[in-house]
Amino acid sequence: MTENLTFISKPGGTLQGEIQVPGDKSVSHRSIMLGALAKGRTEVSGFLQGEDSLNTLRAFRAMGVPISEPQDGYLTIDGVGMHGLKAPSEPVYLGNSGTSMRLLSGLLVAQSFDVQLQGDESLTRRPMKRVIDPLAEMGAVIESREGKPPLLIRGGKALKGFEYRLPMASAQVKSSILLAGLYAQGETAVIEPAPTRDHTERMLQALGYEVVCEGRRISLKGGGTLTATKIEVPGDISSAAFFMVGASIAKEADITLKRVGVNPTRTGVIDILNLMGADIELLNERMLGGEPVADIRVRSADLKGITIPEYLVPLAIDEFPVLFIAAACAEGETVLSGAEELRVKESDRIQVMADGLQLLGVQAKPTADGIRITGCQRLGGGEINSHGDHRIAMAFSMASLRSYAELVIRDCENVNTSFPGFVELATQVGLRVEQSS
Ligand code: S3P
Repeated sequence: MTENLTFISKPGGTLQGEIQVPGDKSVSHRSIMLGALAKGRTEVSGFLQGEDSLNTLRAFRAMGVPISEPQDGYLTIDGVGMHGLKAPSEPVYLGNSGTSMRLLSGLLVAQSFDVQLQGDESLTRRPMKRVIDPLAEMGAVIESREGKPPLLIRGGKALKGFEYRLPMASAQVKSSILLAGLYAQGETAVIEPAPTRDHTERMLQALGYEVVCEGRRISLKGGGTLTATKIEVPGDISSAAFFMVGASIAKEADITLKRVGVNPTRTGVIDILNLMGADIELLNERMLGGEPVADIRVRSADLKGITIPEYLVPLAIDEFPVLFIAAACAEGETVLSGAEELRVKESDRIQVMADGLQLLGVQAKPTADGIRITGCQRLGGGEINSHGDHRIAMAFSMASLRSYAELVIRDCENVNTSFPGFVELATQVGLRVEQSS
């Protein structure tokens, strides 16, 4: 991995035109995992060919699942059935992907073989106890050093269903337990403190598995089967978010983002931007393979600072880096609280964003569970360290739309985990960004 990939983002750009952002990362991971366990051939289109979802794909190939080489987002998975996975010949490397590690943990604790899961430096720092502990209550055995990767998953354990009240709003923990529950005796139920993305539940149902959703309690019974289907992955709203904020803060911007997933558990970014006074229109709303999609048109607007309602935090959890850029360009103060989860993402997103914003001359005060940002008319320039966090790198690229000097953003290689081709696509619609290694 080249840690020295740099983005240089220059003032003077705007965003105009129509684009299609790459496929949804969460849905792409799940298409491989569930397609692999299904009976028959699953066809996936719109798959995200980014490093994170490709690591999931490679993991299942290493466990004996025939998966075609993705081409323009299309691939086929010849599912091996619930009990058809084979022991990989070496440890499974999952790169930067927390979703792969946490969801795979749930799925693998029920297999007959041992497997080791490893990640890169950032993933190796991330907390895994949040899945290890509840899975252990189901009878799983996962060895780790202080709850951090690498994880050694001991196979051959009989799992029993249970009801788990999630201590934090986390779709990864919810999904991990539900995937283990597919193999557990009896019913497995999770109760969420707040709604989180429900792609696992939707896709299980699309592959013919009964999942009962009663308010915040989601349950399923072990021992069922999955049936192959066609999965169309919508564009990733988390990738669209950079352009939504970019168009809101730029002068004379008018951009349409085509075929973006607008699942209500993911649209917090639209709600927050609307509260800030953004000009966002949802057009052509329709269903695509069990997920709602729409074309999203965004035009320049005068944003104002707000206190972000806490219920929107899990619904916009990946979009805060770029929402902080919106806040930095808004009139008045924006206050975020109840977002301590941001400290354990690919980087500590509260601290890393506060450091970068301060460098651009913005008043940004981190708090234990959030941040207070006072907006200003013009941002400065300078050298930003993204700390290898893809979303921090892309968020600061958009800041040049309101800066008077160039931004040099370091350590941007991981943009490929979620948004391959970001620089090309952003350039196509008018952002003045280049990359150099
Ligand atoms: C994801 C859930 C979220 C999100 C991550 C993807 C998923 O993580 O931040 O990018 O696909 O389930 P948490 O469950 O840790 O909030």
